[in-house]
Amino acid sequence: MTATPRTAESLPGPKGLPILGNLLQVVPARLHLQMEAWAREFGSPFHLDMMGRPIIVSDDVAAFQHIMRQRPHDWQRSTPVRLAAQEMGFDGLFTAEGDEWLPQRKLIMQALNHTNLPAFFPLLQQVTERLYRRFERAAAANEIFDMTDELMRYTVDVTSALAFGEDPNTIEQSGDRIQQHMALIFPALLRRIMAPIHWWRWLPSPSERRLKSALAAVHAHVDALIARGREQLRQRQPGKPRHLLEAMLMQAQSGESALDDQRIRANVLTLLLAGEDTTANSLSWCMPFLAEHPEVQDALAAEARSALGEASVCPGIDQLDQLELCEAAVHESMRLRPTIGIFMMMPTSDQVVGDVLVRKGERICLIHRPALQSAKNFDQPMQFKPQRWLRDSREGVHDKRAFLQFGTGPRICPGRHLAMVEVRMVLSMLLAHFRVELTIPSTELEEVLAFTVTPRRMTVRLHRRMH
Ligand code: HEM
Repeated sequence: MTATPRTAESLPGPKGLPILGNLLQVVPARLHLQMEAWAREFGSPFHLDMMGRPIIVSDDVAAFQHIMRQRPHDWQRSTPVRLAAQEMGFDGLFTAEGDEWLPQRKLIMQALNHTNLPAFFPLLQQVTERLYRRFERAAAANEIFDMTDELMRYTVDVTSALAFGEDPNTIEQSGDRIQQHMALIFPALLRRIMAPIHWWRWLPSPSERRLKSALAAVHAHVDALIARGREQLRQRQPGKPRHLLEAMLMQAQSGESALDDQRIRANVLTLLLAGEDTTANSLSWCMPFLAEHPEVQDALAAEARSALGEASVCPGIDQLDQLELCEAAVHESMRLRPTIGIFMMMPTSDQVVGDVLVRKGERICLIHRPALQSAKNFDQPMQFKPQRWLRDSREGVHDKRAFLQFGTGPRICPGRHLAMVEVRMVLSMLLAHFRVELTIPSTELEEVLAFTVTPRRMTVRLHRRMH
């Protein structure tokens, strides 16, 4: 006889207050760390009570692989994330559900397809060259700087150039930059997802007012991009779209899709946001591992020098293929310091996960780190061993399916190839020419959850390598 599945309320969990439940205990910026600590205390799955709305928390990565593959029909991202994205004006591909999802997915997949790389490569080299000059100046001045900030400028420049045909050159721009405004969006998104009451609609706090003006600045930036895209389309001969923005504008003009101005705007912003923090943080979290493992830095430097030759940045797509260890190093640091700390899903009808009933409208959350650092999935799990990700690796037995940092199933990250090209470009340039020193003890590195896991500070100093 099959046992009756457990409900959310019957699962253990931290004791909360009457009515409020665990609301006041939850700190959004530390949520993934709190959930990991509660899982150690109460076991997995456990539950949180957000004013009568349960959240089931699990570290069962196999169950999540299953959930993620059953989308968009049986499972979706949670409703609160969509509502928050709608309010902030970026309800694009990431939060689309039902019939709206597939057409947007196809469009963005096409734009991010790796077959576009040859045409885009010269621009990618140009942006990487700019970052190289920034690093060169920092090394010459013995400057201590925050690596994450520089990488965020890089990723915004790359995404804009690829998807919207415009390189904003934020690396060399000082003063008011679009990233400063974008930096306020993710923490606010997380706060809103976790809040059972939409208090900000009635009680605008100083941080909400700052968010409002940041959103206005970001929307103005996006609108200007779209206006310039339209103007360029008007002026050029009809032909194939040269980038995502043109593809969206052309579809909207032809009337063959339901893409209206609001959706175009939402997807431009979605791509800017999705491409920035994720890639920059994944690269940034690699720095402490490199600093602690000079032998890995040397191995990466050797790989990079062999691919780059005398050039300052990767000279071609063939050479990009040789930079396998660069990509492996970032995969390995993402395993030990996951950039995506938690995943939240919601069923479209009642579903049983393991022996737990997740009712329609309830949320289930995966904490990813336990599986990434379990000896069941990775040999010597606490060791930083980039080689384990190499194609012909003989480094023990690994269940790489436990690595869900890019998601899985039909909604797997469409930007993962671009992200790994950026990783190869940046790390090869960095390590071919410099040695990285971390100027903050790695024990003091603090993880802040702002949708992705961001280092509070990642201060480094670069030393020129003597060839
Ligand atoms: C290291 C870098 C990155 C990481 C770790 C990452 C991670 C993720 C994850 C976990 C998801 C959810 C997948 C799922 O639900 O199964 C996702 C979705 C998405 N990512 Fe990425 N991402 C990265 C880079 C990028 C880049 C560079 C872009 C584009 C410029 C991008 C665009 C998107 C979009 C549009 C979605 C939504 C896809 C959908 O819902 O169909 N990502 N990403």
